[in-house]
Amino acid sequence: MDPVTKKREYRDDYDDKTLYIPGPTEVPDDVIEAMTESTFGHRMDRMTDLYTTIVEDTKEFLGTDNEVVILTGSGTAFWEATTLNLVDEHVLVPTCGAFSERYANVAERLGKDVDRLEYEWGEAVKPEDVREAIETADVQYDMVAGVMNESSTGVRNPIEEIGDVLTEYPDTYFAVDAVSSLGGDYVDIDAHGIDAIFASTQKAFAMPPGLAVCVVSDDAYDREVEKGDSSWYGGFRRTIDYYDRKGQTHSTPAIPIMLAYRKQMKRMLEEGHRARDERHREMTEYVHDWAAEHFAMFPEEGYESQTVACIENTRGIDVAATIEAVNERYDMAFSNGYGDLGEETFRIGHMGEHTVESVTELTDAIEDVAGL
Ligand SMILES: Cc1ncc(COP(=O)(O)O)c(C=O)c1O
Repeated sequence: MDPVTKKREYRDDYDDKTLYIPGPTEVPDDVIEAMTESTFGHRMDRMTDLYTTIVEDTKEFLGTDNEVVILTGSGTAFWEATTLNLVDEHVLVPTCGAFSERYANVAERLGKDVDRLEYEWGEAVKPEDVREAIETADVQYDMVAGVMNESSTGVRNPIEEIGDVLTEYPDTYFAVDAVSSLGGDYVDIDAHGIDAIFASTQKAFAMPPGLAVCVVSDDAYDREVEKGDSSWYGGFRRTIDYYDRKGQTHSTPAIPIMLAYRKQMKRMLEEGHRARDERHREMTEYVHDWAAEHFAMFPEEGYESQTVACIENTRGIDVAATIEAVNERYDMAFSNGYGDLGEETFRIGHMGEHTVESVTELTDAIEDVAGL
Protein backbone atom coordinates (compact mmCIF):
# COMPACT_ATOMS: atom_id res chain seq x y z
CA MET A 1 0.00 0.00 0.00
CA ASP A 2 1.35 3.43 -0.94
CA PRO A 3 1.44 5.67 2.11
CA VAL A 4 -0.94 8.58 1.66
CA THR A 5 0.39 10.53 4.61
CA LYS A 6 3.57 12.50 4.10
CA LYS A 7 5.55 14.04 6.91
CA ARG A 8 4.62 17.67 7.60
CA GLU A 9 7.21 19.10 9.94
CA TYR A 10 5.74 20.51 13.16
CA ARG A 11 6.78 24.13 13.58
CA ASP A 12 7.34 26.46 16.52
CA ASP A 13 5.27 29.36 15.26
CA TYR A 14 1.58 28.37 15.24
CA ASP A 15 -0.94 31.02 16.25
CA ASP A 16 -2.99 30.14 19.30
CA LYS A 17 -6.64 29.64 18.46
CA THR A 18 -9.41 29.99 21.02
CA LEU A 19 -11.20 26.64 20.94
CA TYR A 20 -14.96 26.51 20.56
CA ILE A 21 -14.91 23.10 18.93
CA PRO A 22 -16.68 20.17 20.64
CA GLY A 23 -13.36 19.35 22.27
CA PRO A 24 -10.57 19.75 23.03
CA THR A 25 -11.54 22.98 24.70
CA GLU A 26 -9.63 25.84 26.28
CA VAL A 27 -7.29 24.88 29.13
CA PRO A 28 -6.36 27.53 31.73
CA ASP A 29 -2.70 28.65 31.70
CA ASP A 30 -1.97 27.49 35.24
CA VAL A 31 -3.17 24.01 34.26
CA ILE A 32 -0.77 23.95 31.31
CA GLU A 33 2.01 25.18 33.58
CA ALA A 34 1.29 22.43 36.10
CA MET A 35 2.61 19.92 33.55
CA THR A 36 6.15 21.28 33.68
CA GLU A 37 7.19 19.67 37.00
CA SER A 38 10.17 17.36 36.62
CA THR A 39 9.32 13.74 35.98
CA PHE A 40 9.02 11.34 38.89
CA GLY A 41 8.54 7.61 39.14
CA HIS A 42 5.11 6.07 38.97
CA ARG A 43 5.87 3.85 41.99
CA MET A 44 7.09 6.66 44.21
CA ASP A 45 5.06 7.89 47.20
CA ARG A 46 4.68 11.15 45.32
CA MET A 47 2.67 9.29 42.68
CA THR A 48 0.37 7.89 45.36
CA ASP A 49 -0.15 11.43 46.63
CA LEU A 50 -0.98 12.60 43.12
CA TYR A 51 -3.24 9.74 42.08
CA THR A 52 -5.19 9.47 45.32
CA THR A 53 -5.67 13.25 45.25
CA ILE A 54 -7.15 13.29 41.75
CA VAL A 55 -9.32 10.21 42.33
CA GLU A 56 -10.74 11.40 45.64
CA ASP A 57 -11.22 14.99 44.42
CA THR A 58 -13.12 13.64 41.42
CA LYS A 59 -15.43 11.60 43.66
CA GLU A 60 -16.04 14.71 45.74
CA PHE A 61 -16.70 16.90 42.70
CA LEU A 62 -19.11 14.42 41.15
CA GLY A 63 -20.74 13.67 44.51
CA THR A 64 -20.44 9.93 44.04
CA ASP A 65 -19.80 7.05 46.43
CA ASN A 66 -18.85 4.85 43.48
CA GLU A 67 -15.29 4.08 42.47
CA VAL A 68 -13.38 6.37 40.12
CA VAL A 69 -10.79 5.10 37.65
CA ILE A 70 -8.53 7.54 35.81
CA LEU A 71 -6.52 5.99 33.01
CA THR A 72 -4.09 7.21 30.41
CA GLY A 73 -5.99 7.03 27.15
CA SER A 74 -9.06 8.75 25.83
CA GLY A 75 -12.77 8.11 26.33
CA THR A 76 -12.65 5.54 23.55
CA ALA A 77 -10.79 3.24 25.96
CA PHE A 78 -13.98 2.89 27.98
CA TRP A 79 -16.13 1.99 24.98
CA GLU A 80 -13.95 -1.09 24.87
CA ALA A 81 -13.55 -1.63 28.59
CA THR A 82 -17.25 -1.35 29.45
CA THR A 83 -18.10 -3.80 26.69
CA LEU A 84 -15.44 -6.30 27.70
CA ASN A 85 -16.14 -5.98 31.43
CA LEU A 86 -19.92 -6.14 31.36
CA VAL A 87 -21.05 -8.01 28.24
CA ASP A 88 -21.00 -11.75 27.68
CA GLU A 89 -23.12 -11.76 24.58
CA HIS A 90 -25.91 -9.29 24.00
CA VAL A 91 -25.86 -5.52 24.09
CA LEU A 92 -28.46 -2.93 23.21
CA VAL A 93 -27.17 0.34 21.79
CA PRO A 94 -29.61 3.19 21.22
CA THR A 95 -28.07 5.01 18.25
CA CYS A 96 -28.83 8.63 17.42
CA GLY A 97 -25.59 9.93 15.92
CA ALA A 98 -21.98 9.17 15.09
CA PHE A 99 -20.70 8.43 18.56
CA SER A 100 -23.49 6.11 19.67
CA GLU A 101 -23.06 4.34 16.34
CA ARG A 102 -19.36 3.98 17.08
CA TYR A 103 -20.09 2.50 20.51
CA ALA A 104 -22.13 -0.13 18.66
CA ASN A 105 -19.28 -0.66 16.17
CA VAL A 106 -16.81 -1.22 18.99
CA ALA A 107 -19.04 -3.83 20.62
CA GLU A 108 -19.43 -5.59 17.26
CA ARG A 109 -15.69 -5.53 16.68
CA LEU A 110 -15.27 -7.16 20.08
CA GLY A 111 -17.51 -9.98 18.92
CA LYS A 112 -20.65 -9.04 20.83
CA ASP A 113 -24.15 -9.45 19.52
CA VAL A 114 -25.40 -5.88 19.08
CA ASP A 115 -28.99 -4.74 18.71
CA ARG A 116 -29.49 -1.12 17.78
CA LEU A 117 -32.41 1.03 18.80
CA GLU A 118 -32.17 3.49 15.95
CA TYR A 119 -33.17 7.14 15.90
CA GLU A 120 -32.81 9.78 13.23
CA TRP A 121 -29.88 12.12 13.74
CA GLY A 122 -31.14 15.00 15.87
CA GLU A 123 -33.61 12.87 17.78
CA ALA A 124 -33.12 11.82 21.37
CA VAL A 125 -33.40 8.35 22.87
CA LYS A 126 -36.68 7.82 24.71
CA PRO A 127 -36.73 5.79 27.95
CA GLU A 128 -39.99 4.07 27.06
CA ASP A 129 -38.46 2.83 23.79
CA VAL A 130 -35.58 1.32 25.74
CA ARG A 131 -38.07 -0.45 27.97
CA GLU A 132 -39.96 -1.75 24.96
CA ALA A 133 -36.76 -2.94 23.28
CA ILE A 134 -35.82 -4.89 26.39
CA GLU A 135 -39.31 -6.31 26.85
CA THR A 136 -39.71 -7.41 23.24
CA ALA A 137 -36.21 -8.78 22.69
CA ASP A 138 -35.85 -12.54 22.58
CA VAL A 139 -32.47 -12.27 24.30
CA GLN A 140 -31.43 -10.81 27.60
CA TYR A 141 -29.19 -7.79 27.23
CA ASP A 142 -26.12 -7.75 29.42
CA MET A 143 -25.71 -4.04 28.87
CA VAL A 144 -27.39 -0.99 27.46
CA ALA A 145 -24.71 1.32 26.06
CA GLY A 146 -25.91 4.92 26.08
CA VAL A 147 -24.42 8.22 25.01
CA MET A 148 -25.37 11.13 27.23
CA ASN A 149 -24.28 13.88 24.89
CA GLU A 150 -24.28 13.05 21.17
CA SER A 151 -21.57 15.48 20.09
CA SER A 152 -22.37 14.89 16.40
CA THR A 153 -25.93 16.21 16.69
CA GLY A 154 -25.89 18.28 19.89
CA VAL A 155 -28.48 16.05 21.53
CA ARG A 156 -28.55 15.50 25.29
CA ASN A 157 -30.18 12.15 25.93
CA PRO A 158 -32.25 11.65 29.11
CA ILE A 159 -29.86 9.17 30.67
CA GLU A 160 -31.31 9.68 34.15
CA GLU A 161 -34.74 8.46 33.02
CA ILE A 162 -33.22 5.66 30.95
CA GLY A 163 -31.24 4.62 34.04
CA ASP A 164 -34.43 4.65 36.11
CA VAL A 165 -36.04 2.26 33.62
CA LEU A 166 -32.99 0.01 33.74
CA THR A 167 -33.10 -0.30 37.53
CA GLU A 168 -36.08 -2.61 36.88
CA TYR A 169 -33.75 -4.95 34.96
CA PRO A 170 -30.92 -5.72 37.39
CA ASP A 171 -29.13 -8.12 35.03
CA THR A 172 -28.85 -5.43 32.36
CA TYR A 173 -26.02 -3.06 33.19
CA PHE A 174 -26.07 0.56 32.12
CA ALA A 175 -22.90 2.12 30.69
CA VAL A 176 -22.95 5.77 29.73
CA ASP A 177 -20.60 7.64 27.43
CA ALA A 178 -20.61 11.12 28.97
CA VAL A 179 -17.42 12.00 27.12
CA SER A 180 -18.47 15.48 26.01
CA SER A 181 -20.71 16.47 28.92
CA LEU A 182 -19.53 15.21 32.30
CA GLY A 183 -18.38 18.15 34.38
CA GLY A 184 -20.49 20.61 32.40
CA ASP A 185 -23.92 19.06 32.74
CA TYR A 186 -24.98 17.90 36.18
CA VAL A 187 -25.83 14.25 36.59
CA ASP A 188 -26.60 12.54 39.89
CA ILE A 189 -24.65 9.40 39.07
CA ASP A 190 -25.58 7.29 42.09
CA ALA A 191 -29.32 8.02 41.92
CA HIS A 192 -30.13 6.51 38.51
CA GLY A 193 -28.66 3.03 38.40
CA ILE A 194 -25.71 4.04 36.23
CA ASP A 195 -23.10 1.27 36.39
CA ALA A 196 -20.32 2.98 34.50
CA ILE A 197 -20.10 6.53 33.20
CA PHE A 198 -17.02 7.88 31.50
CA ALA A 199 -15.51 11.06 30.11
CA SER A 200 -12.40 12.37 28.40
CA THR A 201 -10.41 15.12 30.08
CA GLN A 202 -10.24 17.39 27.02
CA LYS A 203 -13.96 18.17 27.05
CA ALA A 204 -15.98 19.75 29.87
CA PHE A 205 -13.24 19.10 32.43
CA ALA A 206 -11.13 21.65 30.47
CA MET A 207 -7.92 19.68 30.83
CA PRO A 208 -5.45 18.57 28.19
CA PRO A 209 -6.34 15.40 26.27
CA GLY A 210 -4.85 12.10 27.32
CA LEU A 211 -6.81 10.79 30.29
CA ALA A 212 -10.15 9.06 30.57
CA VAL A 213 -12.24 8.97 33.72
CA CYS A 214 -14.80 6.31 34.57
CA VAL A 215 -17.12 6.10 37.57
CA VAL A 216 -17.84 2.45 38.38
CA SER A 217 -20.64 1.08 40.56
CA ASP A 218 -20.17 -1.83 42.99
CA ASP A 219 -22.61 -3.81 40.85
CA ALA A 220 -20.46 -3.30 37.76
CA TYR A 221 -17.37 -4.38 39.66
CA ASP A 222 -19.14 -7.52 40.96
CA ARG A 223 -20.48 -8.26 37.48
CA GLU A 224 -16.98 -8.26 36.06
CA VAL A 225 -15.71 -10.52 38.84
CA GLU A 226 -18.57 -12.95 38.32
CA LYS A 227 -18.18 -12.86 34.54
CA GLY A 228 -14.50 -13.77 34.67
CA ASP A 229 -13.02 -12.32 31.50
CA SER A 230 -12.59 -8.61 31.06
CA SER A 231 -10.44 -5.87 29.62
CA TRP A 232 -6.89 -6.03 30.90
CA TYR A 233 -6.02 -2.35 30.61
CA GLY A 234 -9.44 -1.05 31.61
CA GLY A 235 -10.60 -3.91 33.79
CA PHE A 236 -12.62 -2.56 36.69
CA ARG A 237 -11.23 -5.13 39.09
CA ARG A 238 -7.63 -4.64 38.07
CA THR A 239 -7.73 -0.85 38.20
CA ILE A 240 -9.81 -0.58 41.38
CA ASP A 241 -7.93 -3.29 43.30
CA TYR A 242 -4.66 -1.66 42.36
CA TYR A 243 -5.96 1.63 43.68
CA ASP A 244 -7.12 0.00 46.91
CA ARG A 245 -3.79 -1.71 47.49
CA LYS A 246 -1.36 0.94 46.27
CA GLY A 247 -3.17 4.15 45.46
CA GLN A 248 -1.61 4.02 42.01
CA THR A 249 -2.36 2.89 38.46
CA HIS A 250 -1.44 -0.59 37.23
CA SER A 251 0.86 0.76 34.52
CA THR A 252 2.84 3.95 33.94
CA PRO A 253 0.42 6.83 33.54
CA ALA A 254 0.79 10.16 31.73
CA ILE A 255 2.05 11.87 34.88
CA PRO A 256 2.21 15.42 33.43
CA ILE A 257 -1.45 15.25 32.46
CA MET A 258 -2.32 13.99 35.94
CA LEU A 259 -0.51 17.05 37.35
CA ALA A 260 -2.69 19.21 35.11
CA TYR A 261 -5.73 17.24 36.26
CA ARG A 262 -4.91 17.92 39.90
CA LYS A 263 -4.73 21.67 39.27
CA GLN A 264 -7.93 21.86 37.25
CA MET A 265 -9.95 19.53 39.49
CA LYS A 266 -9.19 21.88 42.42
CA ARG A 267 -10.69 24.71 40.33
CA MET A 268 -13.71 22.53 39.52
CA LEU A 269 -14.16 21.67 43.21
CA GLU A 270 -14.03 25.31 44.14
CA GLU A 271 -16.72 26.15 41.61
CA GLY A 272 -18.79 23.06 42.40
CA HIS A 273 -20.69 20.62 40.19
CA ARG A 274 -23.99 22.53 40.48
CA ALA A 275 -22.46 25.94 39.80
CA ARG A 276 -20.59 24.57 36.80
CA ASP A 277 -23.85 23.12 35.54
CA GLU A 278 -25.52 26.51 35.99
CA ARG A 279 -22.77 28.32 34.08
CA HIS A 280 -23.15 25.83 31.22
CA ARG A 281 -26.90 26.30 31.31
CA GLU A 282 -26.44 30.06 30.94
CA MET A 283 -24.18 29.53 27.92
CA THR A 284 -26.73 27.15 26.43
CA GLU A 285 -29.53 29.68 26.83
CA TYR A 286 -27.41 32.38 25.29
CA VAL A 287 -26.49 30.26 22.25
CA HIS A 288 -30.09 29.11 21.81
CA ASP A 289 -31.34 32.69 21.77
CA TRP A 290 -28.64 33.61 19.30
CA ALA A 291 -29.44 30.61 17.10
CA ALA A 292 -33.16 31.38 17.25
CA GLU A 293 -32.44 34.92 16.05
CA HIS A 294 -30.22 33.92 13.14
CA PHE A 295 -30.68 30.21 12.43
CA ALA A 296 -32.39 27.34 14.30
CA MET A 297 -31.28 24.63 16.70
CA PHE A 298 -30.80 21.24 15.06
CA PRO A 299 -31.76 18.85 17.91
CA GLU A 300 -35.24 17.83 18.83
CA GLU A 301 -36.67 20.50 21.09
CA GLY A 302 -36.12 19.92 24.78
CA TYR A 303 -33.08 17.68 24.24
CA GLU A 304 -30.42 20.27 23.39
CA SER A 305 -26.95 19.63 24.71
CA GLN A 306 -25.55 21.83 27.43
CA THR A 307 -21.99 21.69 26.08
CA VAL A 308 -22.22 21.42 22.28
CA ALA A 309 -24.68 23.56 20.31
CA CYS A 310 -25.55 22.05 16.95
CA ILE A 311 -27.07 24.83 14.89
CA GLU A 312 -29.03 24.25 11.70
CA ASN A 313 -27.75 26.30 8.80
CA THR A 314 -31.18 27.63 7.82
CA ARG A 315 -29.67 30.62 5.98
CA GLY A 316 -27.48 28.51 3.76
CA ILE A 317 -24.26 30.29 4.73
CA ASP A 318 -21.01 28.81 3.49
CA VAL A 319 -20.10 27.01 6.70
CA ALA A 320 -16.58 25.99 5.69
CA ALA A 321 -15.72 29.50 4.48
CA THR A 322 -17.16 31.09 7.61
CA ILE A 323 -15.13 28.78 9.84
CA GLU A 324 -12.01 29.60 7.88
CA ALA A 325 -12.57 33.35 7.98
CA VAL A 326 -13.34 33.37 11.72
CA ASN A 327 -10.21 31.34 12.23
CA GLU A 328 -8.06 33.72 10.20
CA ARG A 329 -9.50 37.02 11.33
CA TYR A 330 -10.31 36.24 14.95
CA ASP A 331 -8.09 33.26 15.83
CA MET A 332 -11.14 31.32 16.97
CA ALA A 333 -12.03 27.75 16.01
CA PHE A 334 -15.52 26.28 15.81
CA SER A 335 -16.79 23.25 13.90
CA ASN A 336 -18.82 22.32 10.90
CA GLY A 337 -21.49 19.65 11.08
CA TYR A 338 -20.46 16.07 11.63
CA GLY A 339 -20.17 13.80 8.59
CA ASP A 340 -23.12 14.26 6.25
CA LEU A 341 -24.26 17.27 8.28
CA GLY A 342 -21.09 19.11 7.17
CA GLU A 343 -22.72 22.20 5.64
CA GLU A 344 -26.20 21.64 7.01
CA THR A 345 -25.21 22.42 10.56
CA PHE A 346 -22.33 23.92 12.50
CA ARG A 347 -21.28 23.26 16.07
CA ILE A 348 -20.13 25.46 18.91
CA GLY A 349 -18.46 23.83 21.88
CA HIS A 350 -19.34 25.90 24.95
CA MET A 351 -17.82 23.77 27.61
CA GLY A 352 -15.20 23.73 30.32
CA GLU A 353 -14.08 27.20 31.33
CA HIS A 354 -16.05 29.09 28.68
CA THR A 355 -18.53 31.73 29.79
CA VAL A 356 -21.37 33.66 28.18
CA GLU A 357 -18.85 36.45 27.59
CA SER A 358 -16.34 34.24 25.79
CA VAL A 359 -19.07 32.59 23.71
CA THR A 360 -20.40 36.02 22.79
CA GLU A 361 -16.99 36.86 21.35
CA LEU A 362 -17.39 33.93 18.97
CA THR A 363 -20.97 34.70 17.97
CA ASP A 364 -19.95 38.34 17.34
CA ALA A 365 -17.18 37.06 15.09
CA ILE A 366 -19.58 34.77 13.19
CA GLU A 367 -22.03 37.65 12.77
CA ASP A 368 -19.28 39.84 11.38
CA VAL A 369 -17.91 37.24 8.97
CA ALA A 370 -21.29 35.92 7.79
CA GLY A 371 -22.83 39.41 7.62
CA LEU A 372 -25.72 38.55 9.95
C1 LIG B 1 -19.76 11.52 22.66
C2 LIG B 1 -18.35 11.13 22.38
N1 LIG B 1 -17.95 9.89 22.68
C3 LIG B 1 -16.69 9.48 22.46
C4 LIG B 1 -15.77 10.31 21.90
C5 LIG B 1 -14.39 9.82 21.68
O1 LIG B 1 -13.61 10.44 22.67
P1 LIG B 1 -12.02 10.37 22.62
O2 LIG B 1 -11.61 11.00 21.34
O3 LIG B 1 -11.62 11.16 23.83
O4 LIG B 1 -11.66 8.94 22.71
C6 LIG B 1 -16.12 11.62 21.55
C7 LIG B 1 -15.15 12.52 20.93
O5 LIG B 1 -15.46 13.60 20.49
C8 LIG B 1 -17.44 12.04 21.83
O6 LIG B 1 -17.83 13.29 21.54
